[in-house]
Amino acid sequence: MKERILTLLQNADGFLSGERISEQLGVSRAAVWKAVKKLREEGYGIQSVTNKGYRLVSSPDLLTEGELSPLLTTACLGRTVFSYEVTDSTNRRAREEADRGAPHGSVFFAEEQTGGRGRLGRAWSAPRGEGVWMSVLLRPKLAPADIAQITLLTGLAVCDAIREVTGLPVQIKWPNDIVLDGKKLVGILTEMAAEEDRICALVVGIGVNVNNPAFPEELKDKATSLLLATGKPVSRKELAARILLRLEKEYETFLRQGANAAFRKRYAERCATIGSLVKVVMGNEEFAGTAIGISETGALLVQTGQGIRAVNSGEVSVR
Ligand code: BTN
Repeated sequence: MKERILTLLQNADGFLSGERISEQLGVSRAAVWKAVKKLREEGYGIQSVTNKGYRLVSSPDLLTEGELSPLLTTACLGRTVFSYEVTDSTNRRAREEADRGAPHGSVFFAEEQTGGRGRLGRAWSAPRGEGVWMSVLLRPKLAPADIAQITLLTGLAVCDAIREVTGLPVQIKWPNDIVLDGKKLVGILTEMAAEEDRICALVVGIGVNVNNPAFPEELKDKATSLLLATGKPVSRKELAARILLRLEKEYETFLRQGANAAFRKRYAERCATIGSLVKVVMGNEEFAGTAIGISETGALLVQTGQGIRAVNSGEVSVR
């Protein structure tokens, strides 16, 4: 009900009378008034003037379907939205809803995560209202081996979206962290449900530090936010809409052309790891070398004293 009133107000040219709203939705004037009160409590600025009615004057920066849909220009990604005030992990919610049949392109947002998950079994800090904590459900007709390419193209999409929205010269740290001056802005965790040689569902979890005013002591030297980098708050909903658009474009290009040389070139242009001296930790093994590029399967190619090594997973740090 409140969502339907919000849509009417968002689409109205000016004032909408309470009578008109109650007629259009087939509800009482009192019910309209109650819903307006609730929307105000959520942060919507709704002006009311006698004999004229209601007018939407401002909207909060919330990651909800109502706030996202006017900004979305995608064909598919974000057309189904699940929003949570608090949840343990949006990747978990996405996997659950995938099992229940949620469609390709569904997006899961949380204002706060209490059990945010990171790569290599680590935790991901996701304080209330400070970032874009989201997961995208994809149902690609691809083999599990292609997941590495989806990981890379997500990094590229998020990197370009942040550049477009903020103008910051952010870069990718292989495979798909987004960094600024060596500090981490974004982490991406891709999880897959597969059957033999077919991916059933792919959950791409994206955590962007947007308006975090500060970080806890243990993260202070390693993490940053768009607010700290630009000195001003950044709209989370605009950023989320832009990420979804970039991701949809990259994903469709990949389905049509694969991760071809043109893709690898664009990725390399954005990747701070390529061209740097790196230290690689893979399980118990550790070695150093120069990252020289990306292989056709998405591995990082590292030139060592003993030849070129292809790194598919593990921890790569720039020395
Ligand atoms: C990393 O370790 O760098 C990956 C971090 C991924 C965090 C995001 S936040 C939204 C989604 N839900 C999760 O639990 N994790 C991902």
